[in-house]
Amino acid sequence: MTPQQKKIRKLLREKQGILLAHYYVRPEIQEIADVLGDSLALARAAAASDAKVIVFAGVHFMAQSAAILSPEKTVLLPRLDAGCPLADAATVESVRLMREKEPEALFVTYINSSAEVKALSDVCCTSSNALQIVNNQPAGKKIVMLPDGNLARHTSSVTGREVIAWEGCCPVHQALTPQEVIALKQEFPEAPFAAHPECRPDVLALADFVGSTSAILKFARESGARTIIIGTEAGILDKLRKDSPDKQFVLASEALLCADMKKITLDDIEKSLITMQPAVTVSRKISRAAKKTLDRMLSLSS
Ligand code: 13P
Ligand code: SF4
Repeated sequence: MTPQQKKIRKLLREKQGILLAHYYVRPEIQEIADVLGDSLALARAAAASDAKVIVFAGVHFMAQSAAILSPEKTVLLPRLDAGCPLADAATVESVRLMREKEPEALFVTYINSSAEVKALSDVCCTSSNALQIVNNQPAGKKIVMLPDGNLARHTSSVTGREVIAWEGCCPVHQALTPQEVIALKQEFPEAPFAAHPECRPDVLALADFVGSTSAILKFARESGARTIIIGTEAGILDKLRKDSPDKQFVLASEALLCADMKKITLDDIEKSLITMQPAVTVSRKISRAAKKTLDRMLSLSS
């Protein structure tokens, strides 16, 4: 550990805090996290932790979910401007309009969404459990999935359920093209292609495996392949290489870089632990309604 990493660990001990980090954040932060995980694992960790303070190294909706699941804790997001353009694709007004248009439908909302939008939904999901959550809904019930249209279409095609797909997307995963994947498949003909469900349908059609960040890590650990083409954000490469140092991982596109996930630095975390700012809070009314949808997700997924 560097002196700064040690200092942050010491501050965390002093404040009775834990550091939760997503696989896309800077590697020097991943190295010192108490929990490194995908959105589902981080939400579970936030709900289960008995720490007084949660420092979130991720983006705003993740810290907000932690604050909703653990209202008695202080949740710090060292850079409040670390947002998620996909989460911004569903506004309260647009979801209200859709609910009026589809009054019978169940609204399954990706965790990449605001607290207010979660509060207007029936159940949340992540890319780890979307199939399970949708399969759990009563047969014949109309389902609206928001805000990620690609995840919605993928979930519909795997489960066979009719799903009304919202038109949002993650600009990072959307930037990966089938042409890039085809070129890499020609260069590495033996290499399987593992993709995140936020990728475009024509990219997912080329995938040998589709799953969340932690599912991609598991696939890579268990695969017999020497080389694997990766269709998700670049930050996952460090963990992939740590888990499987004997394998080669090829990022499918240089565009797979989430600027928001890279905003938080060790300096920001240190400052945040000293000042105990900026904290993410959610009003009690919104938090109570949003927690129901998150709790429903946690109880439905294994
Ligand atoms: P995971 O839940 O698969 O980690 O995905 C989070 C995310 O933001 C993907 O872009
Ligand atoms: Fe949002 Fe995409 Fe970044 Fe994930 S990778 S946080 S979905 S912008």
